[in-house]
Amino acid sequence: MAERPYRADLLSDTLTRPSEAMRTAMARAEVGDDVFGEDPTLRALEERVADLLGHEAGLFTPSGSMANQLGVRLHVRPGEELVGDSLAHVVRAELGAAAVLSGISSRTWVSERGRFRAEDAASLMITGVGPYQVCTALVIVENTHNFGGGTVQSLDEIQRARAITRERGVAMHLDGARLFNAHVASGVPLEDYGREFDTVSVCLSKGLGAPVGSVLVGSTEAMAESRIWRKRFGGGMRQAGILAAAGLFALDHNVERLTDDHARARRAAEAMAEVVPAAVDVGSVETNIVIVEVAAAGWSSVAFVAAALDAGVRTYAVGPGAVRLVWHLDVDDAGTDAAIEVLTRLLRAAPTAA
Ligand SMILES: Cc1ncc(COP(=O)(O)O)c(C=O)c1O
Repeated sequence: MAERPYRADLLSDTLTRPSEAMRTAMARAEVGDDVFGEDPTLRALEERVADLLGHEAGLFTPSGSMANQLGVRLHVRPGEELVGDSLAHVVRAELGAAAVLSGISSRTWVSERGRFRAEDAASLMITGVGPYQVCTALVIVENTHNFGGGTVQSLDEIQRARAITRERGVAMHLDGARLFNAHVASGVPLEDYGREFDTVSVCLSKGLGAPVGSVLVGSTEAMAESRIWRKRFGGGMRQAGILAAAGLFALDHNVERLTDDHARARRAAEAMAEVVPAAVDVGSVETNIVIVEVAAAGWSSVAFVAAALDAGVRTYAVGPGAVRLVWHLDVDDAGTDAAIEVLTRLLRAAPTAA
């Protein structure tokens, strides 16, 4: 496999490349035409993920965005709304898909680091107002929270929200792109998270290291309907068992090891906090994502990202003064050491004002 051009690539956990063993599993996958429901490997993956999350059925999609948008589409009719936090991937990073593809509007609450609180959802929801206002049909929860910095959501808050939404006839969808990170960090069984939601999407192509794929889970009836919408959205696939085999391999080999990513992220956070305590809140580093407030060390995020890249460490600006670092399968201890060396050096030496 070609060497990466970076000493540490912390841009995203979507960058992982399939290992030789994963590629072998893909090459050997038994396949069929999935549009006709004939791919045994895909069926096995859908059933396995549904089982893990305590749901009846699953549906493989090419991306997390499609899985989320199918979930949204199921619960919200055109002209109704979904509610979520202002940093949620569904509202912030899916390019307005709910509005464009499904005629759905969105309203948001502001949260601290994406942390979900039942009362935020409850106070924003509008139900039972007849033809006068937009009716809330869905609450979105993201776990872990990406732009919040890998925040693990409290099961207690989710359960409280579930009780309220059930009473008010509002559905709940979990964007679990990184639910496996939340599970290994919190010890909460996947099924305990899963059963609180009408639908859950999980990504295989982030920390789990598969090249492509997500799975949406829900009731048998809901997944049958989503299968039709997936085809309508252009996501009907043929011999996709080749991709599903990578997902099955990832579930067998790459779940428990997510704790290594979490430990490396924390080690780097501690090293940076030692240099500029205001730049990193170590206590908030719960999983594989670290947000560095580079402004606290006199940097703009753009200048910091450029300087780190010059020194071989790729990072991502998430605001004018904040940079995101993401640990994953392809960043080992040596890569983490290199990142610490570069990032602490930069934090110590703010650029001189022009
Ligand atoms: C929280 C979250 N949800 C959904 C997605 C969408 O996944 P995809 O890039 O596969 O569409 C992402 C992607 O980074 C994400 O971070």
